[in-house]
Amino acid sequence: MSSKNQQRVILITGANKGLGFEVVKKLVKGTSGSNNDLILLGCRDLKRGQDAIAKLGSPSNVRLLQLDTSSPDSIARATNEIKQKYGGKLDILINNAGILKLEKTADAAREIFATNYFGIKLLNKHLSPLIQENGRIINVASEVGAWTLHEMSNDLQNKYKSSTLTEEQLDALLQDFIAALESNSVEKLGYNEKSRYLIYGVSKAALLALTRVEARQWSGAKNVLVLAVCPGYCATDLNHHGPGSRPAELGADSILHPVQAPANALANGQFYQDGQLKAQSYACDMDFSKFSEHSKNNQ
Ligand SMILES: NC(=O)c1ccc[n+]([C@@H]2O[C@H](COP(=O)([O-])OP(=O)(O)OC[C@H]3O[C@@H](n4cnc5c(N)ncnc54)[C@H](OP(=O)(O)O)[C@@H]3O)[C@@H](O)[C@H]2O)c1
Repeated sequence: MSSKNQQRVILITGANKGLGFEVVKKLVKGTSGSNNDLILLGCRDLKRGQDAIAKLGSPSNVRLLQLDTSSPDSIARATNEIKQKYGGKLDILINNAGILKLEKTADAAREIFATNYFGIKLLNKHLSPLIQENGRIINVASEVGAWTLHEMSNDLQNKYKSSTLTEEQLDALLQDFIAALESNSVEKLGYNEKSRYLIYGVSKAALLALTRVEARQWSGAKNVLVLAVCPGYCATDLNHHGPGSRPAELGADSILHPVQAPANALANGQFYQDGQLKAQSYACDMDFSKFSEHSKNNQ
């Protein structure tokens, strides 16, 4: 990371609302991190990004970066902009942009994976060379990924959790999953068709796996850490401010923990929530009884 009196450059994707916006708000206030940071507020829609910056009071250290993380062209353009306008250096990248859809179709999977997995993979590939000494890449995953992984067959779990997993193997797992959705045969591959939020959960399970693969790839000369984080179940548009959700500010704290914690308190490639190290897979303990009515009202 840049030395103490040097300005850190931090990019948060999908930061015009929800958790990403709360993260920017906290960074600006300086309650988490130094308010000397230069913050790049990533958003796919220029107007929504401008409105978000205005809502923050247009602080001089927050700049807009147009970035649709599902678009390779947009990723290439944003990378060039960081090179040209910000000296090609980045200290922290927070991959926060994400989507949730409930349909269980191959098209929905393609759309979700484009943002929640493939876009993050491509953005990390473009931006990892710009990450400075002791920098961090934070992939915003979800406990839903850990639940979904837990509900897979042991064989399939072992593939996702393998310590020798490669990006190519992980991509192939997702392509096979899409093909199985098309032929109505996900159970045959070892997925549990009854997993709640199955496609979203698979995208986040894959992101947990990708985080470990990237940590292995990039741990080296620059002491860069790649970490996954769950913000917890928070009230945002993603879940239509679902029943029992906690304030988004708490989710932002959870996302910022691996940004702020000293390197020796973090395990490279691992998964954190509210500052606690989490397993890659575990059973869901959330009570969903209040959800059906809420979901019906938000179809
Ligand atoms: N809320 C929760 O309970 C919860 C729990 C676990 C994990 N998460 C994760 O936390 C992250 C943030 O979610 P949130 O709850 O804050 O959701 P949100 O309120 O729906 O905000 C999502 C943000 O991502 C942006 N986005 C979506 N697709 C994008 C794309 N292709 N390129 C660039 N930006 C894109 C949205 O932009 P637009 O405004 O243009 O749509 C928005 O700014 C997601 O990765 C989500 O999976 C959330």
